[in-house]
Amino acid sequence: VTNRTFTILKPDSVEKGYIGAILEKISVSGFRIVAMKLTQMTKADAETFYAIHNERPFFKDLVEYMTRGPIVAAVLEKENAVEDFRTLIGATNPADATEGTIRKLYATSISENAVHGSDSDENAAIESAFHFSGREIF
Ligand code: CMP
Repeated sequence: VTNRTFTILKPDSVEKGYIGAILEKISVSGFRIVAMKLTQMTKADAETFYAIHNERPFFKDLVEYMTRGPIVAAVLEKENAVEDFRTLIGATNPADATEGTIRKLYATSISENAVHGSDSDENAAIESAFHFSGREIF
């Protein structure tokens, strides 16, 4: 079934000039970009987006990191999008990520890990709606 996932190229990816390389990898892996923008999250945005992690010891650092500069937010379409995209990005910790995955290639650490990928169809829809209006998704 063709469906959608949501991704963020996180501030470290933008800072290091990896936008082009990561989008190229996403495209050649068969994902179609159906929404995309350069944007920056406020503290309140990041606290809402990552609410599920608000009891974690790394929460404050996570909010600081995700708000420190612009991000690329995008909605991607492909057969089996959520699962296939998580395979493409690799493990949360780049040290554990498979060779050739986006995090293996471009992430710095477990916290500055280059990209976000939704973990379920339901969260993909919630996260896409958080960043895009209906008119911005094609
Ligand atoms: P992600 O899995 O996309 O969403 C939660 C984020 O919290 C994770 O990426 C990292 O950017 C960040 N993070 C920081 N420290 C940790 C940790 N110890 N375990 C998991 N995620 C972490």
